[in-house]
Amino acid sequence: MSRRVTARAPAKAILFGEHFVVSGTRAVSSAVGAYTIVNVEEKASWPSELASRELGIRALVLGPDGSFSGPEEFRPIAFVIRALTMRGYDVPPFSLSISTEIPDGAGLGSSASVSAASALALLGLAGSDVSRDDLYSITLEGERAAHGNPSGVDPASVVHGGIILFSRERGVIERVEGVDDSLLIIADSGIRRKTYAPVTGVLNLLKRLEYFRDELLRAADSLVMMAWDALKRKRTEELGILMNVNHGLLSSIGVSTWELDAMVHAARRAGALGSKLTGAGLGGSIIALVRPESEEAVRKALSPMSRWIRIFHLGAEGAALV
Ligand code: PMV
Repeated sequence: MSRRVTARAPAKAILFGEHFVVSGTRAVSSAVGAYTIVNVEEKASWPSELASRELGIRALVLGPDGSFSGPEEFRPIAFVIRALTMRGYDVPPFSLSISTEIPDGAGLGSSASVSAASALALLGLAGSDVSRDDLYSITLEGERAAHGNPSGVDPASVVHGGIILFSRERGVIERVEGVDDSLLIIADSGIRRKTYAPVTGVLNLLKRLEYFRDELLRAADSLVMMAWDALKRKRTEELGILMNVNHGLLSSIGVSTWELDAMVHAARRAGALGSKLTGAGLGGSIIALVRPESEEAVRKALSPMSRWIRIFHLGAEGAALV
């Protein structure tokens, strides 16, 4: 009988510091319990097969160098296969199927989650162990295919799980498992965009700001560090206020939209401790930090504006074999 391996990886929500993290500041990101599941089964010979249940698409991987024929959506997995081969892992021919609960292009790390779960499943099929740091660098290769200039916060978050303090230069600086009983509501606006466009827009804006660029980055980094401190001390009210401030900063650099602002304000009015857009913006999702007693009211306020609303505790297990 041919061998089968299953791996899963969570979604992520950036709590503080997206965009600025691309330019070197720190950021805080939480893994959240919506998962990508990847099944791989050994095949007798190349080409290998890729299939996505949700997207209803297929592709062929022609060899261990990751060359492939099929839709662009599979390019991150092709980059992961090439990264595995370049690191000396012996990837056997396989048939790989993806099924995911994470909406695509919604700022929730779906591409990093697919790359991490695929890498782990293929390593399992190759019979190889991998450290979290190596799995991170392999997953980062997949992210490079998804958007040219990733900071690495998405792959770090889905690989390591929990809640991480991250910087581009230092990787995961600190990690905590979870916070208290406060909840994170995630609502997807349903507006789709590629990460590349908002990231390029912000980098161009920062360039035009010249000397003020450094002041702004310093302010963003201080905000992140205040938030990290509040998170570790379980000062959730303060955390909510800092989320609002972070949304203001993101709005000021042009990555919010009328729809995202409306969702953020609806959540706050319904009793959220704080709310902001999450990820690259210009569409995608917002997050709201709520106490259990206001969960229902905030969910109700957001439901006319979103078809995908989920409620999570902060922190979830990172990528793992199932
Ligand atoms: O692709 P998204 O929406 O999950 O956003 C990634 C976060 C950014 O800071 C905007 C980009 C990055 O690579 O850090």
